[in-house]
Amino acid sequence: MRRGYRASIFHCLDDPGERADASAFEQFDDGLLIVDGDRIAAIGDYSLLSEQIGESDVVDLRGRLIVPGLIDCHVHFPQLDIIASYGERLLDWLERYAYPAEMRFADADYARRAAEFFLDELIANGTTTAAVFATVHKVSATALFEAAAARGMRLIAGKVLMDRDCPEELADDAESGYADSRELIETWHGRDRLGYAITPRFALSSSEAQLEAAGRLAAEFPDTWVHTHLAENHDEIEAVNRQFPWSESYLGVYARFGLLRRRSLFAHCLHLEDADRAALADKGAAVAFCPTSNLFLGSGLFDLAAMHEASVPVGMATDVGGGTSLSMLKTMGAAYKVLALQRQPLPASRAIYLATLGAARALDLDDCIGNFEPGKEADFVVLDPDATPITAHRRGASIEETLFTLMMIGDDRHVAATAVAGKLIEKGSA
Ligand code: GUN
Ligand code: ZN
Repeated sequence: MRRGYRASIFHCLDDPGERADASAFEQFDDGLLIVDGDRIAAIGDYSLLSEQIGESDVVDLRGRLIVPGLIDCHVHFPQLDIIASYGERLLDWLERYAYPAEMRFADADYARRAAEFFLDELIANGTTTAAVFATVHKVSATALFEAAAARGMRLIAGKVLMDRDCPEELADDAESGYADSRELIETWHGRDRLGYAITPRFALSSSEAQLEAAGRLAAEFPDTWVHTHLAENHDEIEAVNRQFPWSESYLGVYARFGLLRRRSLFAHCLHLEDADRAALADKGAAVAFCPTSNLFLGSGLFDLAAMHEASVPVGMATDVGGGTSLSMLKTMGAAYKVLALQRQPLPASRAIYLATLGAARALDLDDCIGNFEPGKEADFVVLDPDATPITAHRRGASIEETLFTLMMIGDDRHVAATAVAGKLIEKGSA
């Protein structure tokens, strides 16, 4: 079925960079997005495209702003239970808050309810794709894949691998982690819009035998993702250096076990050397920029300019529950501030890029999502700049100005509807 959506429309064709290069995006003040089933059919000015579709098939969203579905490149669904927990930095925060919360996901029923709540919250925030950590329990990943399939979402997820320096209830072992991951890959990877990520939590929580088993999976299933954490916190990095004295760097540990490759995705990457960035770029790996988490856990400031200089693909991410919001708008606002502290400008067009096409490139999914190129999957967000009195009052004169206001002071209230694979989900109807 063909349907048109008439609104202001913005999407990226490339990275607009620090100077908001206008050839890298398209915007239509009075635009029309034509969707055929679950795919984008056409995009352009309403006046030029309206004859391609009957008037009764056009949804009039004038006054609103359509952007591509937002992509969260790194988030932990079981940690919604402990978002905004007071007062610790990474390693203590894991022990005091994250690990106890994750223990509850041994229960399949608990995991199912949590997965449904989590995905409905993503959609309410305009997020249509995410790369998600489950827990060590196989049932937690199964629950998430089932809930994503029921919603038609494109999602990458995996069961966590961890077999040392964690509570006994959360430990697998090299062999069972391998077997469970393999079963999940065979069941879910490539089914519907789902993809599997081999998910060693971080170097500190896996034995060398487990990292070796993860690398074996990565070689056996080369189009799966590898999803882990890298160089987030100074104490973590010192502990990695003690645990793997033979490695020249934190990234070198992952590289040694075959975990640095195309479709490897590393969250944080705050404290890297130039050689690490060069190795990431060389292997075609990508990085998730998690600004609210990096501020909340006091981890450090992400250097986007250095990543860009080294040609490392970067996508934006919430990292809930280290991150403080599932809203990609709020995440863009935090990114602006993190970069401002380093004298790096972040125009709205580039922030949107990092949460749409840039994120799709980082996930190696830009052939099917990230912008409104005809033929791509029809994931989009309808933003309402008038949703709160202050944003209505502060309404911009241009689409870019409006987007900037929304990324600085907007949130889920400004998401009027989200379309997943062509299906429009209005606020409150999920
Ligand atoms: N490093 C290892 N595990 C985690 C986690 O759950 N959250 C964050 N932010 N960093 C981690
Ligand atoms: Zn994380």
